[in-house]
Amino acid sequence: MSKTVVANWKMYLNLKNSKDFFEQFSISDFQFSKKLELIVCPSFVALTAVNSLIHNSIRSPADKIHLGAQNCSWEESGAYTGEISPQDLKNLGCEYVILGHSERRCYFQETDEMINKKIKTALAAGLVPIFCVGETKEQRQRGETEKVVKYQLKKGLAGVEFSNQNFLIAYEPVWAIGTGEACQPTEAVKVHRLIKREVQKVFLSKKVPILYGGSVDDKNVASYIINEEVGGVLVGGASTKEKIFINLIKNVIKI
Ligand code: PGA
Repeated sequence: MSKTVVANWKMYLNLKNSKDFFEQFSISDFQFSKKLELIVCPSFVALTAVNSLIHNSIRSPADKIHLGAQNCSWEESGAYTGEISPQDLKNLGCEYVILGHSERRCYFQETDEMINKKIKTALAAGLVPIFCVGETKEQRQRGETEKVVKYQLKKGLAGVEFSNQNFLIAYEPVWAIGTGEACQPTEAVKVHRLIKREVQKVFLSKKVPILYGGSVDDKNVASYIINEEVGGVLVGGASTKEKIFINLIKNVIKI
């Protein structure tokens, strides 16, 4: 089964760095194979440039590298200063969009209701949501991981209807993001199983890959993706460092 790697470049790489990174990356000598789907999520300003690089690159097949955005509006269009329409993202070449990331929840006060609306609008525009859920350190210490994840899934997926579109879910414990304190694979797998059960209630037989995110790097990536419950990884910091990211990809392909 192929594994998915999502590179979330957050606000780390500016336009020039994004182009340089991608050029380095696509000429590197690893072989893409059936084992890997790579989704690159640059900042909004770099989407067009990265999209051209994906399609013009000779060594890296475009059908294996996909473009994703890091966020979108819950509205299609209108008087929403500073917002980005999912349809515009689709027209720019995006296939995916990260929604419900904990940095959006924590720093930009995004609620479960907003995320639910974004998921619906993104699906309507033909984008595949990468829906993030995960507990904070305090919630984990109180033993609330299961409760929090179930609640976020229930709220985020409420009334979501889709036919044959794809959907991805990322388990991203907030305490593991950007801290170097990755969640133990056995602990992550337990939560993945829980997510799978909950998602099956909503999407019935549909297969929804569940990714792990939070301090994933080239050294620990194999310990996650070796598990059949883990459909791939969502990588932040390590996806912005060329050598580390290329090693990470190589380690995914090796499995
Ligand atoms: P990290 O970020 O890999 O830097 O921990 C992951 C994420 O925020 O998706």
